[in-house]
Amino acid sequence: MDRIGFKSYCIASLSIEIRRLRNSLPAFHTVSSRQKFMKTTLSLSPAAQIETECLVAVVLDRGEKDKTEPYVAAPDKPVQAAPADLLSGGDITGKSLETAWLYQPSGLKAKRLLLVGGGKAKKFTASDLRKVAGAAVRALKPRGLRSLAFVLPDAMAPEEALRAVVEGAIVGDFDADTYKSDRKDQRVESLTVVASGDQAALQRVLEEARIAAESQNFTRELVNEPSNRMTPTILAQRAQDMCKATGLECEVYGADKIKELKMGAFWGVAQGSDEPPALIVMRYEPAGAPATPVLGLVGKGITFDTGGISIKPADGMEKMKYDMAGGATMIGAMRAIALLKPKIKVIGIVCATENMPSGKAQKPGDIQTAMSGKTIEIINTDAEGRLVLADGLVYARQLGCTHLIDAATLTGAVVVALGYANAGVFSSDDDFYNRFKAAIDKAGEKMWRLPLGDDYLEAMRSQIADLQNTGGRWGGACTAAAFLKEFAEDTPWIHLDIAGTAWMEDAKPWIAKGPSGIAVRSLVEFAREFGNS
Ligand code: BES
Ligand code: MN
Ligand code: ZN
Repeated sequence: MDRIGFKSYCIASLSIEIRRLRNSLPAFHTVSSRQKFMKTTLSLSPAAQIETECLVAVVLDRGEKDKTEPYVAAPDKPVQAAPADLLSGGDITGKSLETAWLYQPSGLKAKRLLLVGGGKAKKFTASDLRKVAGAAVRALKPRGLRSLAFVLPDAMAPEEALRAVVEGAIVGDFDADTYKSDRKDQRVESLTVVASGDQAALQRVLEEARIAAESQNFTRELVNEPSNRMTPTILAQRAQDMCKATGLECEVYGADKIKELKMGAFWGVAQGSDEPPALIVMRYEPAGAPATPVLGLVGKGITFDTGGISIKPADGMEKMKYDMAGGATMIGAMRAIALLKPKIKVIGIVCATENMPSGKAQKPGDIQTAMSGKTIEIINTDAEGRLVLADGLVYARQLGCTHLIDAATLTGAVVVALGYANAGVFSSDDDFYNRFKAAIDKAGEKMWRLPLGDDYLEAMRSQIADLQNTGGRWGGACTAAAFLKEFAEDTPWIHLDIAGTAWMEDAKPWIAKGPSGIAVRSLVEFAREFGNS
């Protein structure tokens, strides 16, 4: 073979080798495609002058009680006038989330006008507007429309309205169909918000809202991944990538460090799995931030919960891929915090592992010694979330956190108590809770406070050890929280049980079925406020 022949032989066999490798790569080498984000811009031009595929306006009903009196809640006369026939003809009444399309609306440069109902004008809130914006985006997507201009309704302060529209639109754009081979990437590419007011202030609000909503979608993307594509190692890698991109410090530790730290509760869960666990620590320590407070965000990162030896029934077990939602919530919140730069130190900790039955798995009756030294009798290996969080909370305190918030898909009992509508909130400190509650309301999320107390803790006492990991049949969300409190001790602490809210069981007009990203926006809002005071 001459030199050129040899060279081309080498190249040919190399490319065959590459192709062979590519075809044989197991699935877990492909880390999911990263979502594209919607471009968001502000326009202070009159809405009638805006050239767009689709102009969106809100219709409200100012009729008293049973009477309907719909009107277009836009400051612009031409936008109010264009759909007059639809309104007078009863084609749109202002009923919540009802939609009507108008082509080539007269007096407007837009190709279409989409009207979305917002309900009674008197009751119209930012939460409603968030849903209206989400519903508008979700109405566009199946029609293949890629851009919209949204006229801010004049029913509330422009900053508040702008924030709701940007968040609602970006959250509404998310779909969980990642692995459909005929998936058309139907993302809406651009949103223009038509507003009037102080441009600089509005621009700032737009950026903040965009960051919060994109971070929420980032969390949803992580939660959506099945457990074979979202192992503790991959979750840690995604956290590291995010930290690198946003300038956060990130450390990822494995089994050796978990044992060295004497995290016996965390390790008790991790020991049963062939997948290595990951202790993920993300640090946001901005120059100029005071030494205290230090906010600790601790997430449950069970990438799959089989129940362990106390194995779960097969029916619905596939859902337990979302048992890392609390961890993903904290990774998403850290992303937003890194980008929004509040003046407060925040440390994010995710305890990531699978919960598996195996010859190495912990068994009912086993005693584990947690990092704090407390001993725990394992009654049910399916109550694993509280075990990993117990050590996560103690570790956060050891790293200097003065205030703790954890998020976890912790109990089926919280779903019995509150359904899918509200996440459960527990807190050992009323002041801390009240400040967090303000953030929940501002973010427009729904959470309901549930009680702690000695009655619940009593149920967690073990005969043989300090605590046991389950507390009988009743009040399961409260007994689980009482257990966690033993590890937060006197540090002001909030626990979010998101088992019923982290996954949307059904699609809604404003949000897709699948991971919801609950709590990300509240946490981000809280960190910003906490940094201001
Ligand atoms: N991950 C589950 C809780 C869960 C249930 C999340 C439904 C999402 C939807 C948790 O680890 C669990 O299994 N909890 C047990 C605790 C029980 C054994 C005390 C439960 O709720 O049944
Ligand atoms: Mn479990
Ligand atoms: Zn679990």
